[in-house]
Amino acid sequence: MFNKIAQHYDMIMQPFDYNDLVDYLDDLIIGAGGERTNVLDLGCGTSEELIYFRQLGYEVAGLDMSEEMIKISEYKHPGVDFFQENMINFKLKKKYDNIISCFDTINYIIDKKKLSKCFASTNKAMNKGGVFLFDFNTVFGLIDEWEGVRIEETDDFFISYDSNFNYDNLVLECKMKFFIREEEGKYASFDETHYERGYTSVEIKELLKLNGFKLVKLLPFLKRKATKDTKLDRYQAVAVKIKEI
Ligand SMILES: C[S@@+](CC[C@H](N)C(=O)[O-])C[C@H]1O[C@@H](n2cnc3c(N)ncnc32)[C@H](O)[C@@H]1O
Repeated sequence: MFNKIAQHYDMIMQPFDYNDLVDYLDDLIIGAGGERTNVLDLGCGTSEELIYFRQLGYEVAGLDMSEEMIKISEYKHPGVDFFQENMINFKLKKKYDNIISCFDTINYIIDKKKLSKCFASTNKAMNKGGVFLFDFNTVFGLIDEWEGVRIEETDDFFISYDSNFNYDNLVLECKMKFFIREEEGKYASFDETHYERGYTSVEIKELLKLNGFKLVKLLPFLKRKATKDTKLDRYQAVAVKIKEI
């Protein structure tokens, strides 16, 4: 998963403004009592977000299990630490003050017990008082936003997403077909199937508590104010490490 997409990932994500995302995450770090010291990015992908964290003065590091994603990250950020590891169970020599995980990476952990292990590894990789930020798709979001067939088309690519939600295990299977324009009339084409598990806010709160974190804020993704609306597609979680486990 993600190895074939890796070299096209930045082009596919081009409509999205990572500078805005990092301003948002930086505000959340400062608001939760954190500092602009260092940040580890779990599921860093091509590490576009780390460009803007570095501009704000953070020392950065990234972790991803895709070899191709790590190669691109290393090329973009020479001299920066990147770890090709599974975020479900990782152990690093250094401890970080801030850990982030962006763009529904958390949902790629499709087993709740494994997500708990990921939070436990995250706790061990952090200093006490450190801020842990991640966004996640809800069960409602995966059904509402993703189930069925969707097409995304620009001058550079055409992508079809054919998704099925399994109500027994809350996992969405998304079959994607990519057509990347290489030159006039010529396309590179490949398929990838991704699996994402929807999580409820209650489950996330419970798993964070179990692993030594306090959930300090649960916001609609990219918003700075909480809402009473319970039908949200995606949340941004802001957690602080309150104890060692
Ligand atoms: C949706 S992409 C997000 C990439 C990047 N953070 C961004 O915001 O653009 C998810 C990334 O998480 C990585 N990933 C998924 N499951 C993982 C796991 N269990 N351990 C480590 N990396 C994982 C994938 O390889 C991919 O690069």
